[in-house]
Amino acid sequence: MKKYLTLNFDYISPKNIKGLKAKTLILGTYEGGKLNQFMQELSSASNGVLKKILDRKDITGRPGDGLYIPSLTNIGAERLYLVGCGKKGKKLSKEEVHKIFNRFIAYAISSKEEACTFIIPNLKVEKEDDDWLLQQLGMLAENNMYIYNPKLGKKNVTPNKLKRITVSYDSRKKTTTLKRSLKNGQIIGKGSNAAKDLANLPGNICTPSYIAKASRQVARKYSSLSCKVLGEKEMKKLGMDCLLSVGAGSVQESKLICLSYKGSKTKKRPYILVGKGITFDTGGISLKPGGAMDEMKFDMCGAASVFGTLQVVAELKLPINVIGIIASAENMPGSKATKPGDVVKTMSGLTVEVLNTDAEGRLVLADALTYSKRFNPKTVIDIATLTGACIIALGKSTTGLMSNDDKLASEILKAGKTASDLAWQLPIWDIYKKDLDSNFADIANIGGRAGTITAACFLSRFTEDLSWAHLDIAGTAWYQGKAKGASGRPVPLLSQYLINKS
Ligand code: BES
Ligand code: MN
Ligand code: ZN
Repeated sequence: MKKYLTLNFDYISPKNIKGLKAKTLILGTYEGGKLNQFMQELSSASNGVLKKILDRKDITGRPGDGLYIPSLTNIGAERLYLVGCGKKGKKLSKEEVHKIFNRFIAYAISSKEEACTFIIPNLKVEKEDDDWLLQQLGMLAENNMYIYNPKLGKKNVTPNKLKRITVSYDSRKKTTTLKRSLKNGQIIGKGSNAAKDLANLPGNICTPSYIAKASRQVARKYSSLSCKVLGEKEMKKLGMDCLLSVGAGSVQESKLICLSYKGSKTKKRPYILVGKGITFDTGGISLKPGGAMDEMKFDMCGAASVFGTLQVVAELKLPINVIGIIASAENMPGSKATKPGDVVKTMSGLTVEVLNTDAEGRLVLADALTYSKRFNPKTVIDIATLTGACIIALGKSTTGLMSNDDKLASEILKAGKTASDLAWQLPIWDIYKKDLDSNFADIANIGGRAGTITAACFLSRFTEDLSWAHLDIAGTAWYQGKAKGASGRPVPLLSQYLINKS
């Protein structure tokens, strides 16, 4: 769980490499069989070993290719690893950069030492610069360090010993800005890890009240953050019957949690993030089938991403105002649960016919989005594990984006590209809106074949006078199979969007 990595940027010169007393030294090498300056120094000190390795083509130098060299004579470092960095001067794709950095980090972790040094040669990337590279490195380092360790009795969690990475990167840019970029990336990675920690907890621990408690705790940690929690009584007073209808079958009290960040002294309009926080989604009376139902503990990943992003914003001290709103409930069947055909009133005044109690995310979001209007927001982005259909449309790698504002949509797409946390836009044209017609209320909560789009169309009825975007993270919020666990997405995208706004 809490494991802090120290990441330092330090320019190391080839002249000092031989004597460097690093436990683990990880050295980047270009493709093409030539020794770089660092390798020349090391090789000449140790009987030309590195030259031999390159001549024999034991390492190709292709991006992410790697080689472990257990011991070298006459050099200070105890272990040496080589990592392929592609052809010198040739532009790398972002995926290739990730392969390279992931190899560096994987070696650092597997070397089982507390400290290690990365010597990274200059890399050229499509459309991005050296600051982008270091931000990615900081983010990936922190991300890959993550271990789920809540002490719930799981034995044999392999401890991760790595504590310190010193990064030397060959760049013409000023060290101060490079340091900053590495640090910023690390902060984003830590925010993702905070989201993972919350999301990975089981549903019997991570309840709406638990998320409220965790939010109050982070607000105590940062003076720029404050937290306000509304319980069921307060929500009832505000007319949030729609949100409350979702938790009606559960003994867990529903909560609306507001985490506010004040980074701007003037009364600037806030950016608002609204997270779906269903701490367990059984489907309610429209009960889900049993297979993989455990994964519905992840139905609060939208909330977790709001929680993580506000920590990033507070750590970065961005000069803007941001409000995170988490709509949290547990969706259970029971004698008090909402039934198919029930009609509920939203805070906005619109009535909803609940045709399927498993389409509950949009119900909690409807009232949370209406609530957001009182803050006169600049933009509102909601984040939700909203539809299984989104996984059919875009798979597990890409977040679905829908918006009533094309400018906002393009800013979000761009932030996602920069942060390597991709989204793709789907339309919410009027032709889809009639799918939600109801004979018994203003709108129904399901309808039509384009499930992801009609869900967004439902939300759009509550955001008409806002600059609003919706992120469907049903596919991207967690991994399945052997790697089952939260991904921390889309904390990088949201953080980058807010950085770009600062
Ligand atoms: N939380 C689910 C969506 C979901 C399902 C996310 C599987 C990730 C994996 C949501 O509340 C839901 O149940 N949606 C229904 C909507 C349907 C009833 C219109 C769905 O997608 O099946
Ligand atoms: Mn559901
Ligand atoms: Zn759900």
